[in-house]
Amino acid sequence: MIHAPAVITTDRLVLRRPALTDAADVYAYAHDPEVTRHLVWPTHTEIKESIAFLETCDPRWEAGDEYCWVITIAPEDRVVGSIGCRVREYTADFGYVLHRAYWGHGYATEAAQAVVTWLRSLPGICRISATCDVDNLASVRVLEKSGLSCEGRLRRSTIRPNLSSTPRDTFVFAWVQDEGVKP
Ligand SMILES: CC(C)(COP(=O)(O)OP(=O)(O)OC[C@H]1O[C@@H](n2cnc3c(N)ncnc32)[C@H](O)[C@@H]1OP(=O)(O)O)[C@@H](O)C(=O)NCCC(=O)NCCS
Repeated sequence: MIHAPAVITTDRLVLRRPALTDAADVYAYAHDPEVTRHLVWPTHTEIKESIAFLETCDPRWEAGDEYCWVITIAPEDRVVGSIGCRVREYTADFGYVLHRAYWGHGYATEAAQAVVTWLRSLPGICRISATCDVDNLASVRVLEKSGLSCEGRLRRSTIRPNLSSTPRDTFVFAWVQDEGVKP
């Protein structure tokens, strides 16, 4: 079992494990349709959906299914987004979301770079990937700035329920450890 850090600190951010007391802050971004437009989960319409999400975080972390951190901007402890990753043997993938009021300051990139750095430090991980909707150009930039490259377009692969009930094209991005490099 991997030992994921409960706290990851960057120049401006503290990523920490979520608490149920973060529900109002999570709801603040999760109920914004501009924020959830390109995501795979439906816009929250009631705070109980944000509470339900937070309730899944601890068991998923303990089971090694997913490590999810909330994003805070130091020195405030207020949650402005979240970032999560899944590790499966020699691969990992991640995703992130940020409150709209905090877009455009490089925060998502800073959080993603920190998680990618941690994932790259794990022995045996040779592939770190993320997907995003082909229209999600801000996320494309975040992934590029985090050291991932676009590998291609999965056509009609993913339903983004806040955009359409039919599957849409998705970009696959990845960082890959060269073969022959010892992890
Ligand atoms: C995607 C998201 C996390 C980016 O957060 P952020 O903190 O604003 O991102 P950053 O500031 O680190 O970087 C954004 C980059 O995208 C660029 N960008 C923003 N909007 C853009 C657009 N419409 N077209 C092209 N580039 C765009 C910015 O200029 C910046 O690139 P630069 O540094 O080269 O100028 C944020 O917009 C968000 O939460 N969106 C909704 C949830 C989401 O889509 N999550 C990702 C799912 S895959």
